[in-house]
Amino acid sequence: MPSVLPADFSRLGEECAALADAGVDRIQWDVMDGRFVPNLTFGPDVIAACRDRTDVPFEAHLMVEAPEELAHLYVEAGCQMLIVHAESTKHLHRTLGSIRDLGAQPAVALNPSTPPESVRYVLELCDMVLVMTVNPGFGGQAYISEMEPKVATLRRWITDAGLNCDIEVDGGIGPATISGAAASGANVLVAGSALYKDPEGLAHAVTELRDQATTAVGQAG
Ligand code: DX5
Repeated sequence: MPSVLPADFSRLGEECAALADAGVDRIQWDVMDGRFVPNLTFGPDVIAACRDRTDVPFEAHLMVEAPEELAHLYVEAGCQMLIVHAESTKHLHRTLGSIRDLGAQPAVALNPSTPPESVRYVLELCDMVLVMTVNPGFGGQAYISEMEPKVATLRRWITDAGLNCDIEVDGGIGPATISGAAASGANVLVAGSALYKDPEGLAHAVTELRDQATTAVGQAG
């Protein structure tokens, strides 16, 4: 699944249409507020401006302080899933429930230093857990493979509890890292740089990475 962080910000509407044409399942918007992470990106109006360029679902990765204050704006902008960071809201259980009440799919993200125990008691509220495999804020960083045991622990908890909860990884995902991420239990893989730097273009990159991810997730069993 693509992150539009590396896309051409002067042509985001066309970039979303090109991603849809390339066959992506969803599009992830890396929303940054300059406080929770040292970078500033997309307000809800930017996403709303791109909403009618494709029917592909949007997910907002809210790397912001107090996401509960902004959540409704991103749902109104056309995002089907909202991902909030466990480290960014005082009352995570309540925030996830409020996202469900807004009619969106709730998901929770964990920074590299955050243990999986911090979300153990909210997994049943989530449609997805995002394990960050870089420190959030920028694309093009190196994959932190030490996150793989965290993914495996979450996969075990989700399986043992019989929950229908995806595990997403984001950061440094590409041909060299997809297998390790999938083998540890991730079933949703976000790629930014790896997609946009493929010399054969976006469609080729999407197909290549999807095939690699499908194979890796399949082998992981
Ligand atoms: C970090 C962002 C990135 C982006 C994808 O805050 O969340 O991880 O989505 O980055 P790369 O370029 O590593 O795929």
